[in-house]
Amino acid sequence: MANELITKLNAKIEGAEQALKTARNEAEIEAVRVEILGRNGFIHSISAEMKNIPPQEKPEFGKAFNLAKNKIESLLVEAKENLKAGSAKKSEGLIDVTLPGRKWPLGTKHPISKVIDDCVAIFRRMGFIVAEGPEIETVYHNFDALNTPADHPSRDPQDTFYFGDGRLLRTQTSTVQIRYMEKNQPPVRIVSPGRCYRRDTPDATHSMNFHQIEGLYIDKNVSMADLKSTLLYFGKELMGSETQLRLRPHFFPFTEPSVECDFSCIMCGGKGCRVCKFSGWLEIAGAGMVNPNVLRNVGFNPEDWSGYAFGMGIERIAMIRYKINDIRLLYENDMRFLEQF
Ligand code: DAH
Repeated sequence: MANELITKLNAKIEGAEQALKTARNEAEIEAVRVEILGRNGFIHSISAEMKNIPPQEKPEFGKAFNLAKNKIESLLVEAKENLKAGSAKKSEGLIDVTLPGRKWPLGTKHPISKVIDDCVAIFRRMGFIVAEGPEIETVYHNFDALNTPADHPSRDPQDTFYFGDGRLLRTQTSTVQIRYMEKNQPPVRIVSPGRCYRRDTPDATHSMNFHQIEGLYIDKNVSMADLKSTLLYFGKELMGSETQLRLRPHFFPFTEPSVECDFSCIMCGGKGCRVCKFSGWLEIAGAGMVNPNVLRNVGFNPEDWSGYAFGMGIERIAMIRYKINDIRLLYENDMRFLEQF
């Protein structure tokens, strides 16, 4: 009696095992579970027959019954896991070509670099070449050779950063004039963009580190008219063809005569607005005819050669052009600010 039932039990489990092996979805697995373990399933009906088994055969049957029940339970778990693993495998390596591509954020040029590039490009078109010099300079190149008097206030340690060895952080790109003329014979036609340092208290318009672009032209019979036309052309190229130029007398040790150069305000076209402080003019550059002493300091004979020079602040141009009202924004490297350029 027990043997007969045990055979029936095992056959049923074997059949279920086959069915689970080929099950293609959850529903097919569930159908097997219901058939075997369900309320009116096989296990239920076979345990109802237990009472017909003679007592001495009961332990043997009970053992087989429990084994079969455990087996079918673990087969069901296994079948579910296989189904999951199978579907994961199927999608492996498949690429959804309809998905939008990943965007790689592109950096932008810093506004300071943009202004430098634009200024250099304009001067290049006029035949200037770029020259560079060191940011750590000698007192000679930053002051003496540029005809700066020994008692000039800009030399004061309150205004200039000095190193222990007497060198300094250049306060102006005018140093490159000297460096270039020491190594090259005239004619000279250079522009020199770069960093400068001054011991200022930082505020909305002052920074201890800033940028200038310097220009120097030395040739035979260079006149103030050449300077004026060069600056006017530069202004029109940079700020638009309507731009006008105004020169005001000034003083710099390295030029004689010296001027300050204003361009008509690009915001209001000269009518007067907040940017130009209602004057209609923007002060952009310092300039002048190279002082004969400077030429002598580099071994050029002022009887043979003359020239003009100019220098301007890059930050000032950038702030006007991009309507930036605080110079410190240019150095904070806040992505939200920089991404706008
Ligand atoms: N170096 C001057 C400054 O920092 C700017 C300047 C003025 C440069 C006149 C020049 C020049 O070459 O001729 O304020």
